[in-house]
Amino acid sequence: MKGVTLPTETVFVMEMSPIKFGLGATEEIGFDARRLGLRKVLIVTDPRLAALGLPDRVRALLDEQGVKADVFDGVAVEPTDRSMEEAADYARTKEVDGFVAVGGGSAIDTGKAVNLLTCYPAPLLDYVNKPVGRGVPVPGPLKPLIAMPTTAGTGSETTAVLVTHVVAQHVKAGVSNRLLRPTLGVVDPLSTLTAPAEVTAAAGADILTHAIESYTTRPYDARPKHHPPDRPAYIGANPASDVWCEKAIELVGRYLRRAVLNGMDLEARTHLALAANYAGIGFGNAGVHLPHAVAYPIAGLVRDFRPPGYPEGHALVPHGMSVILTAPAAFRFTYATAPERHLRAAELLGVRVRELDEAARPEALPRALVALMRDIGIPNGLAAVGYGEGDAAALVEGTLQQPRLLANTPRSVGPRDLDAIVRSSMRIW
Ligand SMILES: [Fe+2]
Repeated sequence: MKGVTLPTETVFVMEMSPIKFGLGATEEIGFDARRLGLRKVLIVTDPRLAALGLPDRVRALLDEQGVKADVFDGVAVEPTDRSMEEAADYARTKEVDGFVAVGGGSAIDTGKAVNLLTCYPAPLLDYVNKPVGRGVPVPGPLKPLIAMPTTAGTGSETTAVLVTHVVAQHVKAGVSNRLLRPTLGVVDPLSTLTAPAEVTAAAGADILTHAIESYTTRPYDARPKHHPPDRPAYIGANPASDVWCEKAIELVGRYLRRAVLNGMDLEARTHLALAANYAGIGFGNAGVHLPHAVAYPIAGLVRDFRPPGYPEGHALVPHGMSVILTAPAAFRFTYATAPERHLRAAELLGVRVRELDEAARPEALPRALVALMRDIGIPNGLAAVGYGEGDAAALVEGTLQQPRLLANTPRSVGPRDLDAIVRSSMRIW
């Protein structure tokens, strides 16, 4: 093969964090921290969880094994570059050899940022992907980070990305680098029992979009060949990511309604926690596309939408809500690129696609998504979270700031396509 230049990619990579999963996995945190050589750690968490007591419990479990821990409980919901830098400023006042992030995606992503900014001090924006930030690569290895998710959603415990709201630009953007991936994910479904129904619904919507976007993204072998050092963390749909994504879609279809209706349904919570992790492994390698790209300005430009179930006094469109709101339109747009994959996703959500006639097939997946969204209480479109037709241009402009995600879309997508997707998502049903 020497000297032969192949025009498209022939290699895919599967990377993930080691995962400890199961009821009571939290109880082993002291053992795991010691095993990783930790002696003094900073627990990174949010005020709601601190009030509920889980971070203190983690601190006590660490202490039993001789690992000292301080708690930083100032993580913001949907964190900003500023809130992440403040967390890092706090961490610099402590001498620690590792971090334990306890919480949803906000806490785990803040843990990743604190690790990065304390190991290699710089403004967070330096590391944020272009064109929002400067796209400086993570300079080298970070300290150990143990991620303990308390929502079944982001899968951040296994991904190489952190997402931040860049205040000055009113846009969300990511830092993506495989060195950000947590050293260990400890996924204990018992830790998700306290998530309110609205949080469970939005986080579950995030799982589903991770899985379907990764399943339908431009395949790895339809992308240009990369030199090994330049191969991105998101490499496109591939045979391994497909396995994780298919299972995640099926589990969300089967258990999300149950977990929203009854938060104490342990069987549903357990399977959703698995689904979140599976989808995280899938999208952590394949990558997400259109719904996540549009979601960034949907969250970033929020005016005064205050969702129930989230801390009061803070306007926000929860991440999972922001990604699912344009998903029906986005998958209608991408259907023709891979009808069999869109139909398979619908089938995994319970649709009997074999019984559909030809004309009904493109609508199978959007309809399945809408049915689920209605059942779990997702607002009816962008209008219901405060946007109007007059905001379409700004939402399109913000989406164009996510070229990395737009390039993952399985067909080329321009401002007019985005405008149509945004407008048709104002009211969905
Ligand atoms: Fe997401």
